This record gives sequence, structure tokens and C-alpha cells, in this order.
Amino acid sequence: MYICICNALREKDLRATARCHAGDAETLYNRLGCRPQCRQCLEDADQIVAEERSAVPA
Ligand code: FES
Repeated sequence: MYICICNALREKDLRATARCHAGDAETLYNRLGCRPQCRQCLEDADQIVAEERSAVPA
């Protein structure tokens, strides 16, 4: 499933990046080689990042 239509960014790729790297969704987008454009996805993306990190044992 796509989390960001503007960048054709998949949720699974955002989740995988969130497990390995610090920062908010926008920072992770940059790591994935994209930049927010319309920004409509960022709230959901930040929620996915937080959800993914809370699921990983410290
Ligand atoms: S849907 Fe992600 S920047 Fe537009």
C-alpha cells in the first residue's frame, strides 16, 4: 500500500526505514530519496513511524 502518492512511497518501505533510522517521517522520506510535496500524508506517516518504533523491542 502506498503511504505517499506524490512520491509513490510504500508503507512497507517507510516502516523498514523507521526501524533502522531516527527522525520523523519527513526525515525518513529524505533518506528514501524523496521530499514531501502536498504534505497530506505526513500525519499518517508520522503515526506509522511511531507505531513501528513502539513495536520494536528496545
Ligand atoms: S501524498 Fe505524500 S507528499 Fe503528497
